[in-house]
Amino acid sequence: MKKLNFIALLCLACSITCPAQNNQLILREDNIETVIASMTIEEKVTLLVGGPGDLVPGAAGYTREIARLGIPMTVLADGPAGLRIQPKREGTDQTFYCTGFPTSTLLASSWDPELVETVTTAMGNEVLEYGVDVLLAPGMNLHRNPLCGRNFEYYSEDPLLSGKMAAAYIRGVQKNGVGTSAKHFAANNQETNRLENDARVSNRALRELYLKNFEIAVKEGKPWTVMSSYNKLNGEYTQQKHGLLTTVLRDEWGFDGIVMTDWGVKDGTVKSAKAGNDLMEPGRQVEIDRILAAVNEGTISQEELDRNVRRMLQYIVKTPHFRGYKFSNKPDLKAHAVVARKAAEESIILLRNEDNTLPLKGSEKVALYGLTSVDFVGIGTGSGEVNTKHIVNMQEAMTAAGFTLDESLVEYYRACFATQTATEKMEGSAIDKRHRPEPTISAKAIERQAQHNDVAVVVIGRIAGEGADRAVKDDFELTSIERELLQNISMSYHKELKQVVVVLNIVGVIETASWKHMVDAIVLPWAPGQEGANAVADILKGKVNPSGKLPMTFPINYMDILTSYTFPYNWEMTKGRKGERKNVDYTQYYEGIDVGYRHFQSDPDVEVSYPFGYGLSYTTFAYGKPSVKATADGIKATVTVTNTGKVTGREIVELYVAAPSGGLKKPSRELKAFAKTKLLAPGESETLTMKITAYELASFNDEHSAWETAAGTYQVLFGASVTDIRAKASFRLSKSQSWEVNDVLGTIQITE
Ligand code: BGC
Repeated sequence: MKKLNFIALLCLACSITCPAQNNQLILREDNIETVIASMTIEEKVTLLVGGPGDLVPGAAGYTREIARLGIPMTVLADGPAGLRIQPKREGTDQTFYCTGFPTSTLLASSWDPELVETVTTAMGNEVLEYGVDVLLAPGMNLHRNPLCGRNFEYYSEDPLLSGKMAAAYIRGVQKNGVGTSAKHFAANNQETNRLENDARVSNRALRELYLKNFEIAVKEGKPWTVMSSYNKLNGEYTQQKHGLLTTVLRDEWGFDGIVMTDWGVKDGTVKSAKAGNDLMEPGRQVEIDRILAAVNEGTISQEELDRNVRRMLQYIVKTPHFRGYKFSNKPDLKAHAVVARKAAEESIILLRNEDNTLPLKGSEKVALYGLTSVDFVGIGTGSGEVNTKHIVNMQEAMTAAGFTLDESLVEYYRACFATQTATEKMEGSAIDKRHRPEPTISAKAIERQAQHNDVAVVVIGRIAGEGADRAVKDDFELTSIERELLQNISMSYHKELKQVVVVLNIVGVIETASWKHMVDAIVLPWAPGQEGANAVADILKGKVNPSGKLPMTFPINYMDILTSYTFPYNWEMTKGRKGERKNVDYTQYYEGIDVGYRHFQSDPDVEVSYPFGYGLSYTTFAYGKPSVKATADGIKATVTVTNTGKVTGREIVELYVAAPSGGLKKPSRELKAFAKTKLLAPGESETLTMKITAYELASFNDEHSAWETAAGTYQVLFGASVTDIRAKASFRLSKSQSWEVNDVLGTIQITE
């Protein structure tokens, strides 16, 4: 013991004296300024540009090492549905699989930040144990349009729900002592021409929608990093927009981490560095050369250079690599699979349940239809895909849950899937899973199957991902084969007085209005991760009572959505001279804040298929008389929810506020808070409390560049969805309030 103490003392003395003696300065948390003072300009610039690395195969990027100063390389790898690294490595039989958690859209359907935090606490543990420093997630662009190819990586059409989910996501991951990167900042709402598209957005729509979710996530989640997007915003690349990255993000919202670019090199590296984009990823020599030249010429000042370097060092000292964390490469994947399954159970949405078709008894013989029953969509494609060991499909899940499946259908779909994938391999084509055709089954065969089975479960699938948006034909809308299949199945099964259940294993919103009447029940698990199919089976069987609700609207027709007029769903639009192509080179967000339910609520003439916030349960809930009381800076609303049905379940209460007239013209109601009950047994009640501040009630006045909350009487609506209001209250604000902010986002004339 004594000997150990002596050695410790010696080491301590050494760490204080030795570096000075042999002129070796090593980075510590408390000597960042000294380190900066001792760095050469070349070293400083090195830190601002990512570089190659091989520490963790499959990681998206690295920051550079400066060995002389004890500055380690740090590792950045994708999310958001889990960690994305390569599962196999040369020279070892060990595997490096990660858990495929439910995608963000499904997590948002839980309306449960606590659940999200639990999920990402497990996810962050994989980040830590696989030797990664930052998870490049959450993806949190708003669902401006249902066809955005990456919507499954994002949460919602509503900024409050999106912001709260992202904040919870960040807190969970970062609990592990690793970082996150809230992305893609900002207005990165389409994949078509994603590197160059100029999003032209009014300040009001930016502040209230496209920045609001980031504002909440930054203030409540405190991410270590933010990723600037590829696109331009009002004529300038976001990564080069000082107003966005410095004035708004840091000065107004208090962000104190680093901003990194999305992956690629753009002209204007110097402008990016000056704007407050600290790190260029994945990093190229040309970027080092440009910054170095600019520092030498004085275009980038010493202060600007040191400012970015300081932030990089403040980031580095927090990382596991800096701390010398000995990662195991062996996270507990079994335990995390349980978390992933539970998360899906708590989030899946029941859209339709005529005559209590669900839950099934469990003893039925089930005819399971659809290629997706084998080719299950756990996540999506692109950088958001996770290399999981296995994604449970519906055939496996239903069997494991104890259902008896029609074997001939099981075999048929397995064989079709095997043939399709074999052909794809033979043709050597890049597998475009989106267009795997649904196999046909003759009407006669379906008639026979209807006689021999008790119920039909039809799995409809959609996959999409980074780099391409979805289409209306054969994607948003059903394909003709799917429509025919549904028609034949419902005709034959209903003739036999048997029911039809549809499972929507989709990465984004599809058209439901034209066919939903044909079927008895619809379950929506989105892309629910590697264990999601098990959760669906448990819901079909009634082992789990669904409690998710829609984080966006399902319109009747695609063209009912205002953004459909400016979204490049039609590839014809991409023709024409570069730089001028409407919706490709630039997109006018002329709908302003009329996105999603904000539009549908304000225009009662347009009906929807399923409203925002909608979702059924196997039980029923009653809302008691609500109360709204003033607090020091806003209001506190409470309502008691009672389970009035026969099954244990959870209810989500959505708090919408209708503002008084007199202030800015607002949507007729806006989501301002939400809460979810615990599991309530039949007859059990819980009182939910939700708080709103006066600032959160504000709308953005472009002319004054200020957030404004009008005086007057506000209606508070306690909804089971945006249209299903169960209780009402009101409160009065005696005086108006305003919060001025900088007008730095670029004024732009938005025309149709
Ligand atoms: C994507 C990002 C991702 C990055 C690194 C980019 O193409 O847009 O979301 O984090 O690649 O893989």
